[in-house]
Amino acid sequence: MGTDDRRKIIIDCDPGHDDAIAILLAVASPKIELVGITTVAGNAEVDKTTMNALKVCEIAGLRDVPVAKGAGQPLVRRRETASDIHGDTGMDGPELPAPTKTAVSEHAVDFLIRELLASDGDITLVPVGPLTNIAMAMRKEPAILPKIREVVIMGGGTFGNWTPAAEFNIYVDAEAAKIVFESGVPITMFGLDLTHQALATEEVQARIKGIGNRVSDFVVELLQFFMQTYKEVFGFDGAPIHDACCVAYCIDPTLFGCRKLRVDIETKGEFSYGMTVVDMLGVTGKEPNANVALQLDRDRFWTMMVDTLNNYAKKV
Ligand code: BDR
Ligand code: CA
Repeated sequence: MGTDDRRKIIIDCDPGHDDAIAILLAVASPKIELVGITTVAGNAEVDKTTMNALKVCEIAGLRDVPVAKGAGQPLVRRRETASDIHGDTGMDGPELPAPTKTAVSEHAVDFLIRELLASDGDITLVPVGPLTNIAMAMRKEPAILPKIREVVIMGGGTFGNWTPAAEFNIYVDAEAAKIVFESGVPITMFGLDLTHQALATEEVQARIKGIGNRVSDFVVELLQFFMQTYKEVFGFDGAPIHDACCVAYCIDPTLFGCRKLRVDIETKGEFSYGMTVVDMLGVTGKEPNANVALQLDRDRFWTMMVDTLNNYAKKV
């Protein structure tokens, strides 16, 4: 694939073990042009997720791509973080040196607006944390809407991991999610139905360890911590690398089986706040507003992951 065919993306994230892997995958892929990284409060407070993003850039050897810090609070609700899953720093486990790179002074929301308005409509947004920055950008400058090629979201599903009904990213800022899902822009949703199929088991980790470069060693350290908390909290035999699925889709959409479905966001329910209500049988009669990823080709997915991370042997 030539340089001109690379897919332009902005990753909006809250690193986060799986966020880090998403960034590392994007940097290493010859099919992706990473335009920028924006950060948001989610797994930890925004100062921590921004610091983690900068550390990931450092280990990836990424110097020229801007990191812009974004919203520290959800639009309406009180902030919640996921320290039981990701640790107090949001990315506990690996010991990394302080980064030399700093965040740009521009706010993430203004960065998103400026980049989108200046684009040819060819930028894909990849939000893998709460949707606060994306919703704020849409509200602040609606002229960005027709400029967005696609929003590839990690969030939601037909069941929850934060409450029985709600997945963490959507629950933390359901009002923001509602704005995004009702925006009319093309959306592909990677919910838990899909991301739990992307389980980094011991066998997968052994394959990644076998790559033997600095980044693959770091990924294994991330996965060891993440796997431990997923075992303790959910009884899983591996770590689902949720956020990396969105980047994998930008690299090769044929890895996924998707269906066009109606997805509404619950913002009122007593037990269902933050739920993505997915109309699997078309009972609402409403037009689909999302391409929902439901099936993963596991073999090809892990082969692509390992092959792509292998590029760091030459790069770093
Ligand atoms: C999502 O929440 C976070 O803990 C992960 O980084 C992922 O984006 C999974 O529910
Ligand atoms: Ca995340």
